[in-house]
Amino acid sequence: MNAVIRAVVRTANGRYGDAIVGFQDGWRGLLEDRKIHIHNDDRTDRILTKGGTILGTARTNPEVLREGLGRVKRTLDDNGIDALIPIGGEGTLTAAHWLSEEGVPVVGVPKTIDNDIDCTDTTFGHDTAVTIATDAIDRLHTTAESHQRVMLVEVMGRHAGWIAMNSGIASGAHLTLLPEVPFDVDEVCTMIKRRFQRGDSHFILVVAEGAKPAEQESFHLREGGVDEYGHERFTGVAHQLGVEIERRIGKEVRTTVLGHVQRGGKPTAYDRVLATRFGLHAAEAVHSGHFGQMVTLRGTEIGLVPLAEATKQLKLVPTDRHAEAAAFFG
Ligand code: F6P
Repeated sequence: MNAVIRAVVRTANGRYGDAIVGFQDGWRGLLEDRKIHIHNDDRTDRILTKGGTILGTARTNPEVLREGLGRVKRTLDDNGIDALIPIGGEGTLTAAHWLSEEGVPVVGVPKTIDNDIDCTDTTFGHDTAVTIATDAIDRLHTTAESHQRVMLVEVMGRHAGWIAMNSGIASGAHLTLLPEVPFDVDEVCTMIKRRFQRGDSHFILVVAEGAKPAEQESFHLREGGVDEYGHERFTGVAHQLGVEIERRIGKEVRTTVLGHVQRGGKPTAYDRVLATRFGLHAAEAVHSGHFGQMVTLRGTEIGLVPLAEATKQLKLVPTDRHAEAAAFFG
């Protein structure tokens, strides 16, 4: 996000002389009129390599936001804001679309490690998360091999299994479970047993946090309810599945949950480049009056797509991509 902020400031101020105001803690800053002026100086330049956002971020309940749209518009008017560039995932971009429908000049920038925003090949953050997860799985291979163990690794991915799939392929995992494809515990156990019967030393199973057992399964995950933002609260699929695998096949299992480690540290070069290009093109879109749009990556080119299109549905892992990953299972 810092790379986007820097690119917006460099382009909008450097090329057009715009003043840039950053609202703090996401939509909350707009609801409460909390902001800082961001200058085109050395300090801003140096945020490029720093992960996260100098502005802070916060989840906001969509209902609270919908009701607060009037307040957001007032904040923008009171501050004489000519255009808004929200950076975020599904929730942020949906709110950006609502604002745009109400006549606010908006250009959205897609951001999520989950890579589940539609109409763009990828979003920044995803490559960093996959790189971190891959590195962790590489390390788990070493110890799993020495101890002849089954290792489960839980990675992020609420609705979409892109992180699991890509890190699984990159690290040579023996099976990857995605939210898009409900799993059968017996099939998982059979695959593990087969591998050990073949004389192989270990089994690495990557599990997306949103993976679920098939409906006909006798194995059920604990219920976690929903949090204050309306998101399902996960109860730890990898731990629960690990216990079940151990119970069914009597093989020693160890589980690692990567959690927020995947969302931290220095962004990869790929993500810095993509975020920089998104920021530059978002500022240019503002100046060419292309509002109600989201910047997007198609192949190697940055383009624009209506926010209405981009927020219609999430981009899940399609069946043929899962089949590619499955070619290396077992
Ligand atoms: O939406 C991105 C994401 O990283 C998901 O993969 C994950 O489930 C969620 O955020 C975690 O959210 P929080 O930081 O609020 O716990």
